Amino acid sequence: MHSFSYFTSLLSLFSIVSSTLSAPADIEVDATLGTDTGDAAAAAASEDYEYIIVGSGAGGGPLASRLARAGFKTLLIETGKDLGDDYNTTVPGYQAAVAQDPALRWDIYVNHYKDLPRAQKEPEFVYDVNGFDFTRINNGTAPPAGATPKGILYPRAGVLGGCVTHNALIWIEPHDSDWSNIQEITGDNTWTPANMRDTYLNEKVYDWQVTMPTDPTILVRDIKLAKHLLGGAAQVGLGVSPISALTGLGQALLVSPNGGYPGRDSAEGFFQIPLIMNGGTRQSVRERIVDTVNGGYPLTIMTDTFVTKINWKNDKKTGKPRAAGVSYLKGEHLYKASPYSGGSGTPGQVRATREVIVAGGTYNTVQLLKLSGVGPRQELRKLGIKVRSNLPGLGTNMQDRYEIPVNTEHPNDFPILDGCTFDMKAQDKCFDQWLNNPYILAQRGAYATDGLAAAMAQVSTTAPTTDIDLFIFGGPISFRGYFPWWGDHAVKDHNRFSWYTLKAHTRNKAGTVTLRSTDPLEQPEIKFNYFDTGTTEDGADQKDLQSLIEAVKISRGALDHFHDFDLVLPSTDFKERYPGPSVDTDEEIGTYIKQNAWGHHACCTAPIGADDDPMAVLDSEFRVRGTEGLRVVDASVFPKIPGVFIQSAIMMISEKAADVIIAGRDAES
Ligand SMILES: Cc1cc2nc3c(=O)[nH]c(=O)nc-3n(C[C@H](O)[C@H](O)[C@H](O)COP(=O)(O)OP(=O)(O)OC[C@H]3O[C@@H](n4cnc5c(N)ncnc54)[C@H](O)[C@@H]3O)c2cc1C
Ligand SMILES: *[C@@H]1O[C@H](CO)[C@@H](O)[C@H](O)[C@H]1NC(C)=O
Ligand SMILES: *[C@@H]1O[C@H](CO)[C@@H](O)[C@H](O)[C@H]1NC(C)=O
Repeated sequence: MHSFSYFTSLLSLFSIVSSTLSAPADIEVDATLGTDTGDAAAAAASEDYEYIIVGSGAGGGPLASRLARAGFKTLLIETGKDLGDDYNTTVPGYQAAVAQDPALRWDIYVNHYKDLPRAQKEPEFVYDVNGFDFTRINNGTAPPAGATPKGILYPRAGVLGGCVTHNALIWIEPHDSDWSNIQEITGDNTWTPANMRDTYLNEKVYDWQVTMPTDPTILVRDIKLAKHLLGGAAQVGLGVSPISALTGLGQALLVSPNGGYPGRDSAEGFFQIPLIMNGGTRQSVRERIVDTVNGGYPLTIMTDTFVTKINWKNDKKTGKPRAAGVSYLKGEHLYKASPYSGGSGTPGQVRATREVIVAGGTYNTVQLLKLSGVGPRQELRKLGIKVRSNLPGLGTNMQDRYEIPVNTEHPNDFPILDGCTFDMKAQDKCFDQWLNNPYILAQRGAYATDGLAAAMAQVSTTAPTTDIDLFIFGGPISFRGYFPWWGDHAVKDHNRFSWYTLKAHTRNKAGTVTLRSTDPLEQPEIKFNYFDTGTTEDGADQKDLQSLIEAVKISRGALDHFHDFDLVLPSTDFKERYPGPSVDTDEEIGTYIKQNAWGHHACCTAPIGADDDPMAVLDSEFRVRGTEGLRVVDASVFPKIPGVFIQSAIMMISEKAADVIIAGRDAES
């Protein structure tokens, strides 16, 4: 049925492919786009594809690879570049550096609180001062008069592999309840937890995704760090004997938080942190895509290409609008969230004979669909956008975790960080060590880890189920949330240690993504509506806050247990910097949390839902309701935020989508 004769090679990743397609009469194209001027490479793409996937992250990348491997002629469009050979994107220790890298970084600005005076109490809040970013953290006290409020920085990546290419690498498998919830809502029994785990995790994702934890021997060489981790183990009742502390810690660090055994989702304890790396090198979605191209499968990658609109025609059978292709702008760093933006690009179009699948991420999927006439009728009409499918739920229901740290300061540095300047310059000894020891993980040193060494997992007293809802990970870095140059801030001092809480199964679903204008390159308006300004039914906000207060106390408990090991492992003392000793009562801790919490797993803006749910955007097979030939496959599909870390769940639904698409292949005849 399909031939594998398409010439695809690594070269195609770098070649500029553009289209000179003039749209056939039955496809409506954007009149403002005109005709492509064309160039020598144009011929390469002046053909149709069976599937077009927009966005190459955790959602789009595995799906595109799987469709091409099944023999379908597939086009993956990504606005970023392939930066896979770059050390920023491959050295796990450069997580903070890569997240600041202007070559791929998108600075998205969001609001945690609608009310400006309240939002401005957050120390990370950013203002524009004559073109410079101003925060209290970077610049001291109050912003100068005339400062323009921007909001809270929310890092995203525009690059092949999406945010997976710059994220913190942490790999925690989802909980069964994440899937049984979708099964219950939709009545689709392919979503059973067992099927999701056996088929889509074990058989499909683990077919290409390798994960491994930080080598424990790297950690136990640093006495101060070991004592902090031992303190964490003691806090959750592991009772490592001080006499055999280091061997005991070594053993504790062999315990994986994954594995899918009965009772795993509720297992409290002390765990290693698996990372998406192979032999100490970041390896994930981007490598899966490149392997697929190099394997000779019919996958074409168009980088530096920003999709601006879905092109429609009328489906002859159903009369519904059918996605027939996309319009795009070709050019580097076009989206205005890129620090290098400014260009306007060259327009083009490409046609899909079967389907268009949108995987632009929680914010951009919503923006692209709305600009294409899918979404809440009123919002679209106000901007003069022709409504194709009135879906009031699109851009609502947004969810995230809450995260909060307890940061400490020691009088002297952590030896594990000796020689780590995190900048790849001549003095960066840790980079030399990583580079020169490719074969033995333990010898690659501090850069063969993202710096987050181990985690306490707990079920708080207000957890909605028996699943773990507090994941508290520790490491010798000073991270307080996202703001301009947060990465430099996190690794600058080598005498900091923090426990970071990630609150899972949060109840707030009041976040929204709405259009500011019809300019596809402009960021949409993003509001999270945290705590009491969001979902408050049955005390939802208070319950989430209570879990976080407990987490701060657990973190402080772990810090106290540091001293259990003073006799056998003597070291100097340390002090808590944030929240700091003045934040003591539950009320004080609660106020601190509301002003300092952040998240980075935004999701759920195009939720799968029941047929009779007017707020459902997708059916259980990822199809956009009211349309033909159009699906969404990325972080936005979840009705409820899944698990503890989100990328595993996204890659699983990506593999599931490939299965349903192949099974029900849907070409208009
Ligand atoms: C700093 C940071 C650290 C993180 N750490 C972790 C972690 O340790 N563990 C974990 O599980 N999760 C982590 N995450 C979250 C996780 O990486 C994301 O949730 C996940 O990558 C989202 O997948 P996605 O496919 O929905 O979107 P993305 O990965 O964002 O991919 C979307 C892609 O679409 C492209 N795109 C968007 N719009 C268009 C358009 N119009 N035209 C063409 N291309 C377009 C974008 O450039 C991007 O490449 C982290 C996220 C960040 C930002
Ligand atoms: C890596 O990212 C940093 C920003 O953190 C940037 O200054 C540097 O140029 C990048 N290095 C490479 C090789 O791209
Ligand atoms: C604020 O701090 C940033 C980063 O340190 C700096 O670039 C900028 O000039 C400062 N702005 C003001 C107004 O002080």
